[in-house]
Amino acid sequence: MVALASNRVEIAASILDADLGNLANAVRRVEAVGADRVHLDVMDGHFVPNMTFGARTIKALRPRTRLPFDAHLMIANPAAFVAEFIAAGCDSITIHVEIDEPVEPTLRAIRAAGRRPGLAVKPATPLAALEPYRGLFEIVLVMTVEPGFGGQSFMADPARKIAAVRDDARLSAGRLEVQVDGGVNELTAIEVGALGVDVMVAGSALFRKGRNMAAEMRRLRAAAALGRAR
Ligand code: DX5
Ligand code: ZN
Repeated sequence: MVALASNRVEIAASILDADLGNLANAVRRVEAVGADRVHLDVMDGHFVPNMTFGARTIKALRPRTRLPFDAHLMIANPAAFVAEFIAAGCDSITIHVEIDEPVEPTLRAIRAAGRRPGLAVKPATPLAALEPYRGLFEIVLVMTVEPGFGGQSFMADPARKIAAVRDDARLSAGRLEVQVDGGVNELTAIEVGALGVDVMVAGSALFRKGRNMAAEMRRLRAAAALGRAR
């Protein structure tokens, strides 16, 4: 089945650059300005050189918003923790294809729990790395920065994988959602919109100090729609 781009590009708000002392407020704010989802960046200080929060924090945030929760696990051993992220109420759980442990059992566990499994690729990882898991994932997350930190610059070359996933019907048995993560702003949103992305992750663009989040959200949406129309 062909991977079809939906009409509207969704925005998943990453709370990585929010006030980590007040995450309940962060998820309320992104809901209030019309984000479609919350993107939760989980880092273990091992797969990436940074640490954030885990399933307990996500569970505590779950009752604070009605928005879907997309977990992005930048951790070396998701198999040991996937049950916790499922129990925490994540709607989708994306793991990295570059990890050393087998990804297949974790993808199957996510699907068995009725959640959406995703595979993420770092900027240098080719889409060929996903081939062995065809049919086991519903989301491809294309990273356009090296994972680990918010606020980095968008890498245009890896973004071309967005269009490649779109064009490659073999990657999934069902409908495939393509997400882009890293350096999304009102300029790069035009590019990824044109490439056919379904979901843009936006962190620092929304949480930059002194900016109006509602206005930023409108600019991102307008930019993605402009790109999509190309
Ligand atoms: C990076 C994370 C991203 C990032 C997005 O490792 O996966 O979700 O925080 O932040 P911006 O939008 O600032 O690149
Ligand atoms: Zn992320």
